[in-house]
Amino acid sequence: MSDSQTYTPSPEFTSRAHVKGMDEYRELYQQALREGENFWAPLAEKELTWFKPFARALEWDPPSAKWFSGGRINACYNCLDRHLLTERRTKPALIWEGEPGDSRVYTYEDLHLAVCRFATVLKDLGFKSHDRAIIYMPMVPELAIAVLACARLGIIHSVVFGGFSAEALRTRTQDLNAELVITADGGWRRGKEIRLKDAVDQALEECPLVRQVIVYQRTGSALNMTPDRDVWWHERDERLSTSRPTEVAAENCAAQDLDSEHPLFVLYTSGTTGKPKGILHTTAGYLLQTTLSMRWVFDLREDDIYWCTADIGWVTGHSYVVYGPLSAGATTVMYEGAPDFPAFDRWWQIVAKHKVSIFYTSPTAIRSLVRQGEQWPNAHDLSSLRLLGSVGEPINPAAWEWYYRVIGKERCPIVDTWWQTETGGIMIAPMPGAIPLKPGSATLPLPGIEADIVDSRGEQITQPNREGFLIIRRPWPGMARTIWGDPRRYEEQYWSRVPDAYFTGDAARRDADGYFWILGRVDDVMNVSGHRLSTMEVESALVHHPAVAEAAVVAKPHDVTGQAVCCFVTLKAGDWDHGKLSTELRQWVAREIGPFARPEEVRFTDALPKTRSGKIMRRLLREIVTTNAVTGDTTTLEDITVLSRLSTVHEED
Ligand code: WTA
Repeated sequence: MSDSQTYTPSPEFTSRAHVKGMDEYRELYQQALREGENFWAPLAEKELTWFKPFARALEWDPPSAKWFSGGRINACYNCLDRHLLTERRTKPALIWEGEPGDSRVYTYEDLHLAVCRFATVLKDLGFKSHDRAIIYMPMVPELAIAVLACARLGIIHSVVFGGFSAEALRTRTQDLNAELVITADGGWRRGKEIRLKDAVDQALEECPLVRQVIVYQRTGSALNMTPDRDVWWHERDERLSTSRPTEVAAENCAAQDLDSEHPLFVLYTSGTTGKPKGILHTTAGYLLQTTLSMRWVFDLREDDIYWCTADIGWVTGHSYVVYGPLSAGATTVMYEGAPDFPAFDRWWQIVAKHKVSIFYTSPTAIRSLVRQGEQWPNAHDLSSLRLLGSVGEPINPAAWEWYYRVIGKERCPIVDTWWQTETGGIMIAPMPGAIPLKPGSATLPLPGIEADIVDSRGEQITQPNREGFLIIRRPWPGMARTIWGDPRRYEEQYWSRVPDAYFTGDAARRDADGYFWILGRVDDVMNVSGHRLSTMEVESALVHHPAVAEAAVVAKPHDVTGQAVCCFVTLKAGDWDHGKLSTELRQWVAREIGPFARPEEVRFTDALPKTRSGKIMRRLLREIVTTNAVTGDTTTLEDITVLSRLSTVHEED
């Protein structure tokens, strides 16, 4: 609980920063509070390029928000075309490293051309504004190109992380009613091919709406192409070259003039139930929030080389690999593979090679690097770094200190950024030239973000360090607009728990300096390696297995991944080999959802603790896996003896 050491920004950093000192931050924060939605209007005018100016900053009919209505805009135009009119034309926009050692650099001009070409391919295939595309690709430049080409035409994209299974891909494709899938044969991870097209083929057996699959060739391995449905990316691109000169392709493919609220993308994330939520983000507000935070939080300068290690399949990759950095005119780095391949210094090699100056990653990655030892980063020249970032889960002070000392050489501020898929962009984080840092705290909310902490009755908690629910008191431009196809769930989950406020699902406390300390989820969402996963998703995967009668899943604290998946399973009658079955069930979940969801532990039991109404008491299970003991009120338990048995029946592989 101690508020530990404070790290004040160096005068050198502050003197060049966009926001200089605490006074400036406070002034900006107060101004935003006073002006409400009008605070955002001049920022939107300045930061974004509009085809037609907007008439109003906000139309707010809770929980439905329309930001910058009347305006006409295009996200891809803001990420690419507008920079071509400046010196950024020849500046690297995207630096890419493939896992096997191949590498490519795209200037803004190159990337614009590549995006126009692919957008022309999409147009020629008959796709247009409001159509829906699933993108299921490895971390290759074509993934960013596909995303931007969709945005250019107003096609709503939904990127599904390449680590998800065929089953997860199927449910998302169906929920979105997608007509198009953009994929690749595979990608490289730890020297092995992750086959993607095979998963697409399997998923599409039950997705009759999909009429076209575009396949990018990355690994060159053999695969099946379904006639008429499947086309090669490169063949379409070549056809374009012979039919039309390159410049004509670009000219013929102007960015669509779209409404401010045009749906930009749907990103599926885990919620309380087993069904993932399709979080919808729209164009102008999302783009403003992500663009602004590049300056406010990453303090972006023209000559920065910026690297966010997230996969584009997660929201961090959307906002801080593609849209935020490109809209802000940065050079963004993208890496295809694993951080430990071929050795533990792969990341540091990339930092040194490209002179990365801003580096943004997850606490899980930092903790696993701590384990490998300092010799790996120490073997490389990391002097180009000037700012470090962390995202996705709480960072423990020990990992923070290591990151600060070993990677940042005690020179680089660390921005611990709290936000969510639903918030679109960073919400609580230090402005690094202004706000003194405390390891483990995301510090203070950004201007315009009225974060607060309330108790279970929705009353504000003013007492320092008392834990409560983290809420946001007013709408902000980057907020999710709805859950795709389920507006009622959107309202219930986010806007009805506390009157007139957004309910984050996180617990937090505020210290005497007003700093926010995020304590983790209050719902049934787990956070494994910074990836969101619902307990119910894993449970429903488990009960599909023929041996399993019932399953209850909880998160258990883990030294590296923050949390790990722990499953309590009751079996159908039979003579089961528990050791073998434990391994099999872990693999089963990895296959059903994706390898990142593989349970750490499976415990077999002959009954699960339930309330009289039959609800599984996850709280008790959480206590068992955390402390191996049970405390608190157990009087509503159906079978109290089950508890003592649970804590002794412990099966690990
Ligand atoms: C957690 C990722 C502590 C939190 C951007 C949130 C964090 C969930 C932090 C959202 C942080 C994210 N400190 N916890 N800096 N950042 N979280 O949607 O529980 O994948 O609700 O978005 O991650 O995860 P999501």
